[in-house]
Amino acid sequence: MSSTATQRIKTAVVTGGAGAIGSRLVHRLLSDGAERVLVIDDLSSGYRWLLPKDDRVELLVKDVCDMRDVPAPADAPTVFHLAAFFANQNSVDHPLDDLHTNGRGTLTTLLWARARSAAAVVYASAGCSIAGHGIEAPIREDMPVSLHLDTPYQITKALGEFYCNYFGESLHTVRCRFFNSYGPGEVPGHYRNVIPNFIWRALTGQPLIITGTGDETRDFIFVDDLVDGLVRSATTPGARGDAINLGTGVQTRIGDLAEWVLAACQSKSRIEYAPRRAWDKSTHREANIDKAKSVLGLRPSVTVRAGLERTVAWFHGNREAIRAAAETERARSSTGGS
Ligand SMILES: NC(=O)c1ccc[n+]([C@@H]2O[C@H](COP(=O)([O-])OP(=O)(O)OC[C@H]3O[C@@H](n4cnc5c(N)ncnc54)[C@H](O)[C@@H]3O)[C@@H](O)[C@H]2O)c1
Repeated sequence: MSSTATQRIKTAVVTGGAGAIGSRLVHRLLSDGAERVLVIDDLSSGYRWLLPKDDRVELLVKDVCDMRDVPAPADAPTVFHLAAFFANQNSVDHPLDDLHTNGRGTLTTLLWARARSAAAVVYASAGCSIAGHGIEAPIREDMPVSLHLDTPYQITKALGEFYCNYFGESLHTVRCRFFNSYGPGEVPGHYRNVIPNFIWRALTGQPLIITGTGDETRDFIFVDDLVDGLVRSATTPGARGDAINLGTGVQTRIGDLAEWVLAACQSKSRIEYAPRRAWDKSTHREANIDKAKSVLGLRPSVTVRAGLERTVAWFHGNREAIRAAAETERARSSTGGS
């Protein structure tokens, strides 16, 4: 990964910047020399301690659906819109909360960015959106949009893409379709992804639960590779108006993933199996990343096994904060929503 290929971003706004991916993006922007990074986050699934302690970073704790009093930075900001009600299962349980943040929040962010003459808006879309289930991997960006998506989250992630295109005449927008991100910064929890949950269970002697047979596959991209794709999307003129997959083009079996996590954690936890979740109809996921390579020059370089080692090291280094976050996530998932 190289930051030299991309021009420097001086002023950035990161919605959802206290989250798993957003906080890594903030670290990256600072190390690239950003002068100011404004984070807008209501801390509903993010954590202050994930953000770097740096005078150039300002956290505004607020709902992204109300940006009226967010000051305009002096320079045209580059906006990374990552705030979201995350993710599929959460949206099935709380569809109105999903629509609030992912629908209204995206529209509000785009309106704010247009009014402040933002240099670019990079939108965090999802590889699970758009094409729906039942399609052959690898997934290309030009596959037709499905009207039969499986969860409210997929619908609202697609909605955000419609809004980006609607504003495309007056704003430089790029729709990045993330595949499965993982790495330092993501805590375990009922609504979180498989990797932090496998690692936490392995480290605390609990069984790893595979929902399915273990033959299902996903395209896991290490968070810093994904963040490199976000920065390149904002600074590459040829990406303007485009949708770009951010994945690796490599499928990993969930059964293999579980074994690798046990090895990386030196854990004796068992692997157990449970039925697949009703909405989870995609057996195999893989991104076609030709466009990320040709338009952005992105070369995801971290293999899943190497990325797991780095993620497990982060868990060891932040064990008490992660334990507290796991408790917070447990409490959050047991409260009713709408
Ligand atoms: N993690 C993945 O594998 C993945 C895959 C596809 C897409 N994405 C997208 O990437 C983005 C970041 O995901 P993540 O994994 O870092 O999730 P995350 O939950 O860690 O981050 C989301 C952040 O948004 C904040 N937030 C939520 N609602 C808000 C609101 N109403 N106002 C202000 N802030 C709010 C949360 O507090 C959190 O810090 C999301 O848009 C997500 O949909 C992630």
